[in-house]
Amino acid sequence: MLSRADNSATFAVGAALAFFFLGGLLTTVVPPMVDKSWSRPAPGLKKYTPEQLKGRAIYVREGCWYCHTQQTRTLVADTKRSGWKGVDSPISTPDEFVYDTPHMFGTKRTGPDLSRVGGKYDTQWHKTHFRNPRDLVPGSIMPPFPWIADKPEELGALIAYIQTLGRAKDWRPDQDYEK
Ligand code: HEC
Repeated sequence: MLSRADNSATFAVGAALAFFFLGGLLTTVVPPMVDKSWSRPAPGLKKYTPEQLKGRAIYVREGCWYCHTQQTRTLVADTKRSGWKGVDSPISTPDEFVYDTPHMFGTKRTGPDLSRVGGKYDTQWHKTHFRNPRDLVPGSIMPPFPWIADKPEELGALIAYIQTLGRAKDWRPDQDYEK
């Protein structure tokens, strides 16, 4: 077979494509068919309310996902970073994201991961932070969002969405701000 691939470009390209598609099938199509928990919502996962969906649309519109990811990976650095008072946060699992289309996993971690930020701060903290992050976190490179902060409806929706993040798993030992 190897010498045939050496002698025939058609065979080599055909075989490469066949293996490529086989790899694609085995890593993307087959796993959710074998493990159904991927598409089943986590027990604590709630559907988004219309207000939270509006907030999610603002998150997309403002490009928050350029700087923020929403996935606690299996790394100690991640579970510690999203942890709370010495308790490590649980890692992200697919069943937490079944209502997220498209998902907001993101790729670039300029800012901290937000997959467990729901309930970490209260509404007033977020209001102040979105108006000007540097009022709360000196030296923060997160841009201010005054055009959201000046619209109570948009601000409320965005905060309502942020407060849902990571709430499917009940893990924070004590303090957990509802709103
Ligand atoms: C240019 C990159 C950048 C963009 C764009 C950005 N952020 Fe941030 N964000 C940061 C950085 C850096 C921090 C850490 C410093 C701070 O808390 O201000 C942060 C912190 C945060 C925190 C606090 C996280 C924690 O665990 O303390 C929240 C919540 C947040 N951002 C939400 C948002 C939302 C919502 C948007 C879109 C409206 C957004 N960010 C846009 C960079 C960014």
